[in-house]
Amino acid sequence: DILARTRSELEKGLVPVNIFANADIFDAEMERIFAKSWVFLGFESEIPEKGDFMQRRIGRDSVIVTRDGKGEIHVLANFCRHRGTKLCQTDVGNQSHFRCPYHGWVFKNNGEWIGAPDKSKAYRGLDTRDWNLFKAPHVESFLGMIFASLDADAPTLMDYLGGAAWFMRGLMDLHPGGMSPMGPPDRYKVRGDWKTGSENFGGDGYHVGVAHGSVQTIQLAQGFDVLNNYSTHYVIPGGHSFLGHDFDSMFGPDGHVWYYPPDIQRHFDLNRIDPLLQDVVKKNPPIVGTIFPNLSFLRFFGPPSPGKPPAVYTSWRQWQPSGPGEMELWSWQLKWNFMDEQQAADSYAAGQFGFSSAGIFEQDDTVVWEGAPEAARSVWARKEKASFNMQMGMEGMGQQVLDTSWEGPGEAWRPGPGEPSQRAFYRHWLRQMEETGE
Ligand code: FES
Ligand code: FE
Repeated sequence: DILARTRSELEKGLVPVNIFANADIFDAEMERIFAKSWVFLGFESEIPEKGDFMQRRIGRDSVIVTRDGKGEIHVLANFCRHRGTKLCQTDVGNQSHFRCPYHGWVFKNNGEWIGAPDKSKAYRGLDTRDWNLFKAPHVESFLGMIFASLDADAPTLMDYLGGAAWFMRGLMDLHPGGMSPMGPPDRYKVRGDWKTGSENFGGDGYHVGVAHGSVQTIQLAQGFDVLNNYSTHYVIPGGHSFLGHDFDSMFGPDGHVWYYPPDIQRHFDLNRIDPLLQDVVKKNPPIVGTIFPNLSFLRFFGPPSPGKPPAVYTSWRQWQPSGPGEMELWSWQLKWNFMDEQQAADSYAAGQFGFSSAGIFEQDDTVVWEGAPEAARSVWARKEKASFNMQMGMEGMGQQVLDTSWEGPGEAWRPGPGEPSQRAFYRHWLRQMEETGE
């Protein structure tokens, strides 16, 4: 079967094409990956007040993320227990209760069944505790980011993130005020597989000079042709990874700390993070990364408008599976909470210009990602038992080696080009898929 074949192919650094548009694989991913992992849902600052809620997703399931009257956060299945009608049909709001639009069952924002029309005539004998909304057994936050797991036996969020949490501090915790999104996530449909987004943002520096070549041609950025020479692939157990670049070598001394200009950098207190991480942030900061299964990080720079000096932008983005070979891309753009209005506006504009439904990088990426599911549907690919190649940098293949002096979490592979994070991502994907669970 496909999984057995994936296992033997992965040993060679290959991934069978079939896994990118297959209904059985997709269903198994929903059960064995999305219902088992810690999945990102949004930021605490998106629901700051008691009663605030937002509609989000775990895999393909719609969920309501609520803050109840005590301030506690709940993650509820967004369907009525009576006949399945979608309870919450708006993206965000403030409600103490959700009333079903079909027959009117009412649930509190902590999920409890609280009432129904003609309750005493209709349901005198109903044990209402059996009819509460389904509620995620585990909800935790880290750095203001809310995650939930539907798996009752899930490890803690910190155990799940493992070494990725260390890197996340380096990205988000350079100031006590932290970061927050500048609005709800942008959402757009992509005819690509969610895994492609995850593996690309986990460490595909190789495509930048080609897929994004036009960005360099029109002189919006430079250094793409040498980027792979200065990259470090941080590969972290659990399917997570980050891709760092030596900004100093690429962009000169101004490149320090993601090329943040001095008026931003002076706010950072690098002593908040440990010395090795400080070193990473200064010299090889991650520009992209992926938290398994479908959350990715992005921090890069560009001009907010033509002729203006570059501004640094940050996005956390999610590859939301919609069906085999189809996804929605959700992207939050974040600001440091210390930023003044102009700094935040510049960061936002630069980010939208690069990565948004109309963004130059985003369009480059999403269009080339359409190929994998197309190939997966191809009879010819099936006839040939085609696999994709993720062998770059494997032993005997290139110059990339494991940095044995690396003392941080996981492994550091350098210099690029290489695909160690892609191989690790699919190895972890396979491990999850082979766990039969219930
Ligand atoms: Fe919700 Fe009937 S489906 S009350
Ligand atoms: Fe890209």
